Amino acid sequence: MRIIRTKNYEEMSRAAANIIAAQVYLKHNAVLGLATGSTPIGLYKDLIEKYEAGVLSFAEVHTVNLDEYKGLAPTHDQSYRYFMQHNLFDHIDVKPENTNVPDGLAADPAAECRRYDDLRETLGQTDIQLLGLGRNGHIGFNEPGPIFVKHTHVVDLTPSTIDANARFFASEADVPRQAITMGIGYIMSAHQILVVASGTDKADAVYKMVCGDVDPQVPASILQLHANVTLVADEAALSKVLEAGVPVC
Ligand code: GLP
Repeated sequence: MRIIRTKNYEEMSRAAANIIAAQVYLKHNAVLGLATGSTPIGLYKDLIEKYEAGVLSFAEVHTVNLDEYKGLAPTHDQSYRYFMQHNLFDHIDVKPENTNVPDGLAADPAAECRRYDDLRETLGQTDIQLLGLGRNGHIGFNEPGPIFVKHTHVVDLTPSTIDANARFFASEADVPRQAITMGIGYIMSAHQILVVASGTDKADAVYKMVCGDVDPQVPASILQLHANVTLVADEAALSKVLEAGVPVC
């Protein structure tokens, strides 16, 4: 795992945006695996700036998002479809039909999960998969559990995730209890994986992801088995890794 240390959130965002931009420069029709959460907002802003400056186009890009809350409509302001439109898609030239987010309102969630996994065949290998990190080490909405779940699935969110995400809702009671998430198999099949992390509340999860055992109780730890992972994290998020003396760039 390549680890890039940045001073703060702004530097983390710039460094991570440059890695995604480089992918699109090199391959105009790249498949980008995208993520939500507060951490990637800054890097999406940087990508929008590059687009507005005329140095980057997403016209031929396809995107595949990791997850969606079950039961939220795409127009709900806390749905991940809404998040992506608001924070990226509405501001760049990606074609709407080339963007993919699980349908949280699907009448048959199991069929929706199968449809989502089939995207890997339709779109081909994801060139770069962006990941944030849950405080409990989740990636997408792959929560800690007894096994790594390979396929796209409906997941019961853990109390820790409901608590962490309650800040975006009027109250904790409004946080959906379930989500549809891409499984570990699709995530791990990406050519390259880019993890972003910022702040001390991620330090423990980052440490376990980098230095801990590969353990489904820390879903991000599976990334130790991927050959091409870059972690871009600020000093606060890296604090425990740095204390352990792990070499970073
Ligand atoms: C949600 C998303 C994850 C994201 C996590 C962390 O749970 N499903 O993909 O990584 O939040 O979010 P934040 O970046 O706001 O800490």
